[in-house]
Amino acid sequence: MKQILNYIDKSFNVPPRDLKMIIREFHSQMHKGLSGKTSSLKMLPAYVDRPSGREKGRFIALDLGGTNLRVLELELKGKGQIRLIAERKFVLQKTHISTNAESLFDFIAGSVKNFIRAQKIGDDKKIALGFTFSFPMKQTGVASGKLIHWTKGFSAKGVVGKDIVKLLKYSLLKKGLVNIRVAALTNDTVGTLVARAYKDQACDIGVILGTGTNACYRERVAQIRKFKDKRAHATHMLVNIEWGGFNKLERLPYDLELDALSTNPGEQVLEKMVSGMYLGEIARIILKDLIKRKILFAAGGCFSFNAKDNFKTEYMSEIEGDRSKGLRGVARALKRLGVSRATLEDKILVRKICKVVSMRAARVSAGSLAAVVTKMDPHLLRKHTVAIDGTVYEKYPGFARNIRVALRELFGRKNSRIRITLTKDGSGRGAAIIAAVATK
Ligand code: BGC
Repeated sequence: MKQILNYIDKSFNVPPRDLKMIIREFHSQMHKGLSGKTSSLKMLPAYVDRPSGREKGRFIALDLGGTNLRVLELELKGKGQIRLIAERKFVLQKTHISTNAESLFDFIAGSVKNFIRAQKIGDDKKIALGFTFSFPMKQTGVASGKLIHWTKGFSAKGVVGKDIVKLLKYSLLKKGLVNIRVAALTNDTVGTLVARAYKDQACDIGVILGTGTNACYRERVAQIRKFKDKRAHATHMLVNIEWGGFNKLERLPYDLELDALSTNPGEQVLEKMVSGMYLGEIARIILKDLIKRKILFAAGGCFSFNAKDNFKTEYMSEIEGDRSKGLRGVARALKRLGVSRATLEDKILVRKICKVVSMRAARVSAGSLAAVVTKMDPHLLRKHTVAIDGTVYEKYPGFARNIRVALRELFGRKNSRIRITLTKDGSGRGAAIIAAVATK
């Protein structure tokens, strides 16, 4: 028993030496990606720079990337101010995300139609739309880009390799929505950075730590060697790193088992160690193993840990957040999985497993973030604002603090030059701002 627990402790630990290794490998992969060489970091030009904060007008934003589709109407007032006029969520069904392009994009267009009718926006009124599509895409302009591959469990056929804006336009036309102009296509990290930069010009990194994970940052166009159509006037451009694909991390048997059961084996190595879609699953696989070895719940087995995705990241949050004496929150979470007779030792052990899994995730995120900052500013001479969004960062107990601890280990007092700001709903607001920049 001691042996296996020691192994888990040790193998999930990310000491400062490993953080530094992540930074080195990240830099090397970033350089390769920017030069168009084979790399696990795609480094995708976003065809947009930070906004000025003076953009104005009314826009529709569409946000697709996780469990819901959102449609918003927003008014940009200039001077960094934005008014949310209306917002609606539409729940994506399994059929939408896993059948084909038509089923997905007709659903999106149908949702836009519902929204526009409810908002009483007439057919005669032209309106620009910004689309946040939170998957890796190779953009060819601010309003065009092809999906490279799906992530986060999406698998609709006939979308990979296709222009996302064309697919959307086609479905919008089918629904008779001729007055909508798709003016911008963007990733959620870019949207988040842009939303924050609209009122804070020090913002140069956008991060998502939610269902999936990724980051973007501001790069000199001259450094993006593979980017051929250099616009004469642009000196900087945002680059979508797609850091979820980073694959220079040591994978444990638990990671390999998770990967084999996923919809995209071999891909998104970092994402599968860090993001909300997977943390619960890693913990489930370890707990299942401990149950099999009779180290956990020895008083009576529990089979619900055998089924994929049964242990949710939300349960981990609840378990780690439990400060009660008898660990009543842990007991509650376990009850949902049919465990009613957990001993105090069982509960302590379950909590410990959640902790090692989430701690590794936070430290790998911190190492990655440190790599992006030092790519721009190797000696941390300037201040950087990181706009961040996502349930893992926002809601997981201790996650934000653990990131900060790791940054302090790496940079000492200079860590305070990295300001991390929770930027809620950047993906909606950012899409509207980019649409404004594009229609100017
Ligand atoms: C996608 C990214 C996205 C991230 C956060 C990842 O799975 O590949 O494009 O930014 O999730 O939503």
